[in-house]
Amino acid sequence: MTDLLEPRAIGRDLVRRDGVAKVRGTATYAYETPVERPAYAHPVQATVARGRVTAMDTATAEGLDGVLAVLTPSTAERLASTEDREFAVLQSDEVAFRGQLIGAVVAETSELARQAADSIRVTYAEQSHDTELSADRDDLYAPGKVNAGHETDTSEGDVAAAMASADVTIEQTYTTAMYHNNPLEPHSTTALWDPAGDGHLTLWDSTQGVHPDRAAVCEVFGLAQEQVRVICPYVGGGFGSKGTPHAHVMLAAMAARALPGRPVKLALTRQQMFFLAGYRTPTIQRMQLAADRDGRLSAVAIDVVVQTSRIKEFAEQAGVPARMMYAAPNRRSTHRVAALDVPVPSWMRAPGECPGMFGPEVALDELAEELGIDPIELRIRNEPEVDPDTGKPWSSRHLVECLREGAERFGWADRPPARHRDGNWLVGTGVAASVYPTMRQARSTANLRYEDGRYVAEIGAADLGTGAWTVLPQITADALGVDVADVDVRIGDTEYPIASVAGGSSGTNTWGSALVVAARAFREKFGGSPSDGDEVAGDVDQAAQDEDHAAYAFGAQFVEARVHADTGEIRVPRLLGVFAAGRIVNPRTARSQFVGGMTMGLSMALHENSVWDPQVGQVANHDLAEYHVTVNADVGDVQAHWLDEHDPFVNAMGSKGIGEIGIVGTAAAVVNAVHRATGVRVRHLPVTLDKLLPGL
Ligand code: MOS
Repeated sequence: MTDLLEPRAIGRDLVRRDGVAKVRGTATYAYETPVERPAYAHPVQATVARGRVTAMDTATAEGLDGVLAVLTPSTAERLASTEDREFAVLQSDEVAFRGQLIGAVVAETSELARQAADSIRVTYAEQSHDTELSADRDDLYAPGKVNAGHETDTSEGDVAAAMASADVTIEQTYTTAMYHNNPLEPHSTTALWDPAGDGHLTLWDSTQGVHPDRAAVCEVFGLAQEQVRVICPYVGGGFGSKGTPHAHVMLAAMAARALPGRPVKLALTRQQMFFLAGYRTPTIQRMQLAADRDGRLSAVAIDVVVQTSRIKEFAEQAGVPARMMYAAPNRRSTHRVAALDVPVPSWMRAPGECPGMFGPEVALDELAEELGIDPIELRIRNEPEVDPDTGKPWSSRHLVECLREGAERFGWADRPPARHRDGNWLVGTGVAASVYPTMRQARSTANLRYEDGRYVAEIGAADLGTGAWTVLPQITADALGVDVADVDVRIGDTEYPIASVAGGSSGTNTWGSALVVAARAFREKFGGSPSDGDEVAGDVDQAAQDEDHAAYAFGAQFVEARVHADTGEIRVPRLLGVFAAGRIVNPRTARSQFVGGMTMGLSMALHENSVWDPQVGQVANHDLAEYHVTVNADVGDVQAHWLDEHDPFVNAMGSKGIGEIGIVGTAAAVVNAVHRATGVRVRHLPVTLDKLLPGL
């Protein structure tokens, strides 16, 4: 099925096509789109966590010279659909979480809009709020499905019986913290309604998918797709937080409708992002492992508790990866959700897999220690022949090879003994596995045209820093059998054919498949010497779809941790990952994805932590002064390697998607290394010195 057997452009480390424009500052992002006479919107946010707005005194704001419009729940337009309550901005006086949008001011300058918004006096009928997640709440519920359409619970065999009769068991609870996406570019939108009143809206929005973004806006405002254009050539990072629009996009469109013909700009402040741009739910994971003396697992069970908001269900599928990772005859996974008075959780790099590989990969390390078996060997002994969850054969699975090559490159065999001391530092190494499903979305179309001696492909894809601008021409060139320098790919605009979201590491797989179909049709129709204006379309649905295999990318991550024996300070001088992620289309952009994911995993392990204040009902450290994202000084030697993996089943490119797997497993590897160094087992992220000091 692969028709790119002899790639010429694929596999080359071509430089980013958008690199020069970004470095020179000529790449325009949503907020800085040059428009005539922009106005600026600033949101008003609820300052109670639950209740009703009883009054908003907007007189001062309205009296300020230069204020153009003030929007409140009582004056705002009625939306066509309020079904998605995250998007139903200003449609009722109800407050469902602190920081919720309850108004906006539009003014001639952003400073004035902010000043005016701050001058609005809001009166509330406050109700007591409930924002604390715990595993023993009596209102936990089982959602109909968990995210990505997975079953909520699965069960096979008898875990309890296996636990009762096993030689060795591990039964522990692990937790991951709440985390907030902090892409460099904040969430921002420039919105413009047609002054002619024909109901046409243009949005320059920072988004991971112009078409899904448009679909959501059309639904909320009751518009036809032709009435809305979304443009987004560049994104300054998203990590999932721009994978769906959030309420501010609807507020920007609403604010602009108050001033038809004038573009309105709205950028969330960094602090507002902690309320309005989604976040990774904290997770509580109860793990059970049962094994014989040789380390063969007889049971794997995970029971997950996560949170969502009262207004919208987001059920993170953290129990899903444990279903397929290792062989064991008795298995169970469950998900329970608490609906709280909190902001709406959303996607954050590898939702499901990232938190969901933490508990299992630490538990496995605990089991290895209990048994006195090397943790790599323990994983190898439990390698499943087929997918334990579905019974399907793997499209390709090279976890063992990743573990072995990683061990070799890292120097695992010579690793220091447990609690090795080097001066004042305790030194330890750890390992964990990574996994991410190989996905392809259902809808994407590419247009391919010959124009002025060049091959021009158009598809509404997104490049959020991942490399789509660069790798899509590589795929197109090889599929056409032409030089990559003769190919242009245009993305990031709903004027181009429909494209799926840049999410679930599915972008290259999906858009690339559509481009290959288009290229095949183009070759068949026009041969090798096309004429100006020759054009075809290719649809991802026409690409062969394999349903008979379980398709995943795998990886192994190795960590060296050093813990100061007196202060508990933690340093990670070395991170090394080996991945088997199918064919790598561009080593330069791929390495950047892997290294970025691993660094974000280090950040999750040691630094990031949205500290929840249940009294007030908000993240206490809601800015970058207090929410620490790993910076250069925190990062040592990070190496990403990959196997030359050929998978004939996944798609024409043989690519598996690489945006997310790099963050999966890193935190577990850090915990395992810190344990080896100190003897202290940290089961609750992040790993901070207060958790180590009592045991040193
Ligand atoms: Mo990714 S969190 O699926 O955008």
